[in-house]
Amino acid sequence: MKSFILLILASALSVMSSTPAIRKSMSQGFSGARAVGAAYFMTNEPSGNYLVSATIASDGKLALYEAAYTGGTGAHGMSAPPGPPGLDALFSQGSVRVSASRNFVANVNAGSNTVTVFGIDSANPGRLSMIGRPVHSGGQFPTSLAINKAGNRVCVVNGGKTNGVSCYNFDPKKGLTPSKNSIRSLMLNQTTPATGPPNTPSQIIFSPDEKHLIVSVKDGSILMWDINADGSLSPDFRTMSGGVLPFSLLYVPGKNAIIASDPGVGYDIFNLDTNTTVSTPIPNQGANCWSAYSAESGNFYLIDVGLSVVTEVHVTASLNSTIVKQYAVGTDGPIDTDVATIGKKDFIYSLAANATGLTVLAVNGPGKAQVYQRIDLASPAKAANLPLHSTNLQGMATFIRK
Ligand SMILES: *[C@@H]1O[C@H](CO)[C@@H](O)[C@H](O)[C@H]1NC(C)=O
Ligand SMILES: *[C@@H]1O[C@H](CO)[C@@H](O)[C@H](O)[C@H]1NC(C)=O
Ligand SMILES: *[C@@H]1O[C@H](CO)[C@@H](O)[C@H](O)[C@H]1NC(C)=O
Ligand SMILES: *[C@@H]1O[C@H](CO)[C@@H](O)[C@H](O)[C@H]1NC(C)=O
Repeated sequence: MKSFILLILASALSVMSSTPAIRKSMSQGFSGARAVGAAYFMTNEPSGNYLVSATIASDGKLALYEAAYTGGTGAHGMSAPPGPPGLDALFSQGSVRVSASRNFVANVNAGSNTVTVFGIDSANPGRLSMIGRPVHSGGQFPTSLAINKAGNRVCVVNGGKTNGVSCYNFDPKKGLTPSKNSIRSLMLNQTTPATGPPNTPSQIIFSPDEKHLIVSVKDGSILMWDINADGSLSPDFRTMSGGVLPFSLLYVPGKNAIIASDPGVGYDIFNLDTNTTVSTPIPNQGANCWSAYSAESGNFYLIDVGLSVVTEVHVTASLNSTIVKQYAVGTDGPIDTDVATIGKKDFIYSLAANATGLTVLAVNGPGKAQVYQRIDLASPAKAANLPLHSTNLQGMATFIRK
């Protein structure tokens, strides 16, 4: 009897040792208790995807906190034409998203076709606890997420052979459950993993009135579905074209218009009232793929991974736009980026993929942004035995407690 129990125990232990650890501390003793918020990104490793948290202190500074296993695997898209794997494995913005109203963070697992949600402990926002289990993404190679303002609906876009959108209801105890009649195809001729960047979806967002679900596709267009009162989607999407490779999507505050970074030109402004698109070149751009908006400066910050440059853009009420200033960020190779507001100050949190680090910029009002903090990820990951590679890293979302 005793040896039988030992046998069960031994086999349970062997299963455990072959399963990635649930949590790895990255905090070097820091308690996280005085943090006002946190920033989250993911390793997106094919061997096991971890969501990594870094606490944000009241002065805007980051401190790495922990890595939590997502229960899924990451993936890297294939390049066309064939080449070595580049930065931005998922060709997307929004692979990690936060609900500030319901205190949770969601991420895609592109290799296992799932979405995971973690609860955020508002007393210690670095601390992550998985809610429910990872759910199927409704397609292949999920790359971007949208969460509504109430925090009870989550939608995902899949960029693989079976591509499309899919939505869920969120419950703080059960996590995500599929929302009926919400799986729709993007009608892309794709592979799993996706081949890109061209012809792949970039980001999924809700319109501010939450009556439309919008996806940018790097074939020049944005696709829009109507969201019915019961949460189901219209059978077909309508298309607005005119961009080159539209990437990140942000509504211009107070306007029925979207600014999209566009590595094919610089950026596009889609005017949804007039159905017209204006593409504006950023001189000497490398690849402007990500963006964030600061209420403090009233400006957009477009992120160029190819040149390691951040371009600040102002958009007027008549939807004219001007480049306010450009900031060189060394050899960061910045990708996913998010802005957080602490008091009246805005900070820009960027995944410096090429440098395997994180970079924080202080906004300081219009035209006055400055590099404020840099954090290395490579050595803390090594010390924590966390597999992490610059070419796989993806996502950036911030949470500030109320
Ligand atoms: C899909 O793409 C592949 C590879 O480029 C191509 O060979 C095939 O003809 C395409 N199929 C359709 C239906 O366009
Ligand atoms: C824009 O497109 C939508 C949908 O196709 C249409 O309902 C609307 O009338 C168009 N607006 C203009 C100004 O063309
Ligand atoms: C941009 O500004 C010019 C000059 O103020 C104005 O004539 C034009 O209508 C504006 N364009 C748009 C799209 O509002
Ligand atoms: C990426 O890092 C390498 C090595 O530090 C550097 O030579 C290169 O310029 C960087 N790329 C960008 C876009 O900053």
